[in-house]
Amino acid sequence: MAVIFYLSGSGNSLYAAQQIAGKLEACRLETIGSYLREPYAVKDEVVGIVCPVYCFALPPVVAQFLAKLKAKPSYTFGVVTMGGNQGRALKQMSEALAAQGITLQYAQTVVMPDNFFGIPLEKREKLIEAAEPTIIQIAQDIALAKRDVTAVKEAYLWKLFGTSASWWYLKNRLNFENMTVDAAKCVGCNICADICQMENITMVAGKPTFGNNCANCLGCVHWCPQSAISAGKLTLDNSKRYVHPKINLPMMKGDK
Ligand SMILES: Cc1cc2nc3c(=O)[nH]c(=O)nc-3n(C[C@H](O)[C@H](O)[C@H](O)COP(=O)(O)O)c2cc1C
Repeated sequence: MAVIFYLSGSGNSLYAAQQIAGKLEACRLETIGSYLREPYAVKDEVVGIVCPVYCFALPPVVAQFLAKLKAKPSYTFGVVTMGGNQGRALKQMSEALAAQGITLQYAQTVVMPDNFFGIPLEKREKLIEAAEPTIIQIAQDIALAKRDVTAVKEAYLWKLFGTSASWWYLKNRLNFENMTVDAAKCVGCNICADICQMENITMVAGKPTFGNNCANCLGCVHWCPQSAISAGKLTLDNSKRYVHPKINLPMMKGDK
């Protein structure tokens, strides 16, 4: 039995996780948010983690998840999707797993459309196309339980400056953690609450309200059909909002 724990805002990591799961026998997908709500001793022999890179590191909720993960797998893999620079995300994953007594045996990165900066449609399509053979290769490697951690790289500069400086900028300059809704645009469709993997969005009087448990994945921003949600001053106009073309809303709702 196999399990892939994932976090995904615009669907890139979920798509990669689905392709890997498709090559494994009896593999289920579980959101990292779901595990964090109810941690348990994982019995699966194969454990995978698929998530995006944030600020040259793992998303903080993924780090929290790894600190809680109880598992004794015979094979463990980690895949990060990213706009172009993983910093030390896989190194961080390898260290966090080691602290739980788990050895990361296979690790890889996949370049996919960047859901923070947003990129032109034409370039996005090329990136999605270019990612396909990488994802297929990764899925095949994992199906064969290949051992390869060459993508796990130390990057002291990112550790010392990149990650903390980027988060500082996002929080203090972009006010990124302040999720807001344009009440005039919002039609109360519930999609943001349905897809939030952290269950951090509640509908109050037909409008979303945000709790204190945000994964910063920007899922609600990208999936909102009315472009009504913003993350602080981060301006993602319609041309910058992006969701993976092969991921749909029922898939995003996942195991909720
Ligand atoms: C808050 C935030 C920070 C990000 N930081 C990085 C980064 O440091 N390096 C990078 O290559 N991509 C970065 N990205 C882009 C995502 O890693 C990339 O688009 C990823 O594939 C998104 O996956 P998802 O759709 O599964 O959430 C960042 C995205 C967000 C939302």
